[in-house]
Amino acid sequence: MRAAVIKPTLFLPLLSLLTDHGHAAPTILDLADLPFNEDNRLAEHIFAYPAGACATLIDSDKTMKDGHHGHKFVALDGEAYNDVFGHLQDVPNSPPTTANSFHDCLAVCLEKGTNQSVVARPLPHRYWQYGEKDDEGEMVEVDAINSFFGSDSCGRVEYGFVNYHTNPIKLYWIDFDGQPKFNQVLGVGERQTSFITTFVGHKFQLYDSMPNEDALTNEMLYEVIVPNAGVVGIKNFAVSHIPEEGLEDKVRQTLNTEWTRHLKVKRTFSPLGFSKGRLPDDMYASMGAFYYNNRNPPNKVHEEWTKMKGVFVNYWETDCNFIQIPWRLKKRWQKRLKELTEVWAGVELDITDMYGMREYTQGARLLTHVDRVTTHAASMIVNIAQENVTKPWTVEVHDHADRLHEVVMEPGDIVYYESAKALHGRNTPLYSGNYINLFTHYRPLGDPEWYTRDNPENTPEPLMDVGECRLTGQIDEYSHGAVTCDNNAIGPHLSPKMFTANSGEDLFLWWKSVGPEEKESKIVGEVSSREEL
Ligand SMILES: *[C@@H]1O[C@H](CO)[C@@H](O)[C@H](O)[C@H]1NC(C)=O
Ligand SMILES: *[C@@H]1O[C@H](CO)[C@@H](O)[C@H](O)[C@H]1NC(C)=O
Repeated sequence: MRAAVIKPTLFLPLLSLLTDHGHAAPTILDLADLPFNEDNRLAEHIFAYPAGACATLIDSDKTMKDGHHGHKFVALDGEAYNDVFGHLQDVPNSPPTTANSFHDCLAVCLEKGTNQSVVARPLPHRYWQYGEKDDEGEMVEVDAINSFFGSDSCGRVEYGFVNYHTNPIKLYWIDFDGQPKFNQVLGVGERQTSFITTFVGHKFQLYDSMPNEDALTNEMLYEVIVPNAGVVGIKNFAVSHIPEEGLEDKVRQTLNTEWTRHLKVKRTFSPLGFSKGRLPDDMYASMGAFYYNNRNPPNKVHEEWTKMKGVFVNYWETDCNFIQIPWRLKKRWQKRLKELTEVWAGVELDITDMYGMREYTQGARLLTHVDRVTTHAASMIVNIAQENVTKPWTVEVHDHADRLHEVVMEPGDIVYYESAKALHGRNTPLYSGNYINLFTHYRPLGDPEWYTRDNPENTPEPLMDVGECRLTGQIDEYSHGAVTCDNNAIGPHLSPKMFTANSGEDLFLWWKSVGPEEKESKIVGEVSSREEL
């Protein structure tokens, strides 16, 4: 009864009263007071909303309870409120002091695993606001706050299973009475990976389908209480670490083929065929959290490299790992990255492909190549994370005049590139640690034959002649303009080795010259000119 006559300024004592009784979420003024782990990552999923009147309203709603869907409830005030909500449009600059209905409130879901530096920047779909304006300018509810809480903006997640056991596996959901409910059979291999839609905290068990018909009497191969959006491998893809026979011949052949392929693409989009950019904070937050939450086995598995796929990645001498992305999350990322890539390429694009996250490990090399021509016109490399990388591991991209550029990336950096046209690779072995990338691909809207076209008007001219170039920095200085050319449109990434390829054979010599065995030896031809400085 007292609450009815209380003035808004007196809400705080009321709240602390509630806290004493354990009904209200804690209020924080500083986001640093959220639970972060020793890696400075958010340690729990958080459901957050404005302190004061909204918090009172939300805390009293029985359909959303602290701890439900594995989310901790937190009320935000002061700086914390501003950091998370302040950048949104039409949002009051402090928590509302009265709230007659949810209409007056806001909410957000912050994902466990998010880097502390971007914790206040979740993707737009993770915010809840009352609704949208209709034609008359009246607000209409689009999604009730409690359905938002149970949606894939928050508590509902996609979780995937990839089976590397020798037999099919049977997946069971364990219901709230502890009873197994058959869900589906999982076939073997990446192509048969299955993503289900479930909720944080739900439990699943996976049983061998052999030898008994009733799988529940067979070996239980895995059990999981879903912690977040993710994917898990049951056992692992077996990669043989047998040296490739006749490796040099295969590499030479491959590089000759790639050289020929890159010449067949007519259409260009940009002066150099690539450029460097940066993920928006909310994409960095989302991608980084997904990676962090799935960075260890059994979530990451070996990438399925076999002899059939060629020698592009030296999988026979280093571990090359893979983390798949759930479908709906992938769609959101693809759409968002498409907008960025369209600005870069200057044309409207169709989404064609997003590969998962590839983890390279110490000693990894990626042969110079171009991507599939019909689908990979304008693409993006995203560096998701690096662990213990002590020397920069550059991505090598050849521009439209086949000059080599070497680009250094930090987590959250992107490299746009014309992936069927601009030869690219990472021939220098990764010196130490793990390096995690994601690749996404687009092509001009409705045009699978884009590569046969002439450039439309207003396409930037490919940068061919840049005059004389000189090494003005250090031979191991990357992405900092170590090479100065008469025309500085060449940018800061030209390789200090000043290598220009004129043939597949040149690409082969480059591969040899930067490889592990050849570090000390002299190199022949074009490649050598600066190597010996
Ligand atoms: C968080 O992001 C910042 C900015 O990119 C970066 O410097 C930092 O290393 C990241 N922290 C973690 C724990 O990954
Ligand atoms: C990075 O190096 C440290 C120290 O050698 C090690 O403890 C840690 O496990 C390494 N991290 C990864 C992800 O390899």
